[in-house]
Amino acid sequence: MAEKHIDEVTGIETTGHEWDGVRELNNPLPNWWRWILYATIVWSIGYWVVYPSWPLISSYTTGVIGYSSRAEVATDMAAAKERQKVHLDKLEKASLQDIRTDSDLLNFALAGGRSAFNVNCSQCHGSGAQGFKGYPNLNDDEWLWGGTLDAIHHTITHGIRNPDGEEARDSAMPAFLKDETLEAKQIDDVAEYVLTISGQEGDAGAAERGKPLFTEHCAACHGDKGQGLAEFGAPALNNGIWLYGGDKATLVDTISNSRSGVMPAWGKILDPVVVKQLTIYIHSLGGGQ
Ligand code: HEC
Ligand code: HEC
Repeated sequence: MAEKHIDEVTGIETTGHEWDGVRELNNPLPNWWRWILYATIVWSIGYWVVYPSWPLISSYTTGVIGYSSRAEVATDMAAAKERQKVHLDKLEKASLQDIRTDSDLLNFALAGGRSAFNVNCSQCHGSGAQGFKGYPNLNDDEWLWGGTLDAIHHTITHGIRNPDGEEARDSAMPAFLKDETLEAKQIDDVAEYVLTISGQEGDAGAAERGKPLFTEHCAACHGDKGQGLAEFGAPALNNGIWLYGGDKATLVDTISNSRSGVMPAWGKILDPVVVKQLTIYIHSLGGGQ
């Protein structure tokens, strides 16, 4: 080894490394820094022994206390289920009406209904149940098939115009042009009449001609004043709330070709308690009847 070399400027020993006359000062790490380093090494060895840490080929080291965050979540979930079970059992037995009057059950049903709605219903009815063209808004107080608890429960359980249920809500508005029941000119007149009963501007002469056509061909389902009829799922035409649209072109299209909204029978897909919770939730949204 070469002789020790002391840097003249700082008075500190150098390491002996030298590059083209540039030398490196031999500044040892401060003690406090080294001790923290040793402490962390000791800590991590202790951690490896106590907690699960090292991956093995098909498992991992479990640690001496056998802690598992997965097991902890499972216990938490089981405890939450146990707490819910009390409520779910009560919900199962209670009638829809009873649930409405028991504020504890009501809140539980509303929370469950809201989350089931987000998972199963929002893709068609919108995340705020506001609806889209052909998919009804469930917030307003206009009901195609009735807004009582029982009516809503039936609609959700059996669905609408689906092929897999005897009890599904069913009805078919004729396609008046396709079926050749009315001529294009008559459809134009009846559409003008629908414009006027829904409070929009229409051609008065045409509406006058459309009125008897409406009475003859439409009133059986939509009511003599266009107030709608839940028995046939026929929407009100006199209130400015539209499922498909109330402008002239859309009216002519609907009357000419008809529509047929379809909804699955949720009773076949979801647990009966969930259907109950959904019923309570939907009823609460629309200021149900
Ligand atoms: C695949 C699309 C779709 C999904 C998903 C869907 N719906 Fe519907 N729903 C419809 C359509 C379409 C109608 C209207 C059918 C008609 O024109 O009569 C409707 C109508 C309804 C009605 C009747 C409204 C009234 O005014 O009488 C209720 C209540 C309803 N849905 C609740 C639900 C609930 C609760 C869910 C979730 C469990 C759900 N819907 C999921 C398509 C859907
Ligand atoms: C057999 C019963 C029936 C008859 C008759 C009928 N409708 Fe309908 N109408 C319905 C049903 C049911 C719907 C809802 C269709 C759906 O949900 O897809 C509907 C929907 C409509 C709509 C769409 C409303 C909206 O909110 O977008 C209009 C407009 C309409 N009918 C006009 C008429 C007119 C005009 C006639 C007569 C020329 C008529 N309907 C005859 C059952 C009927």
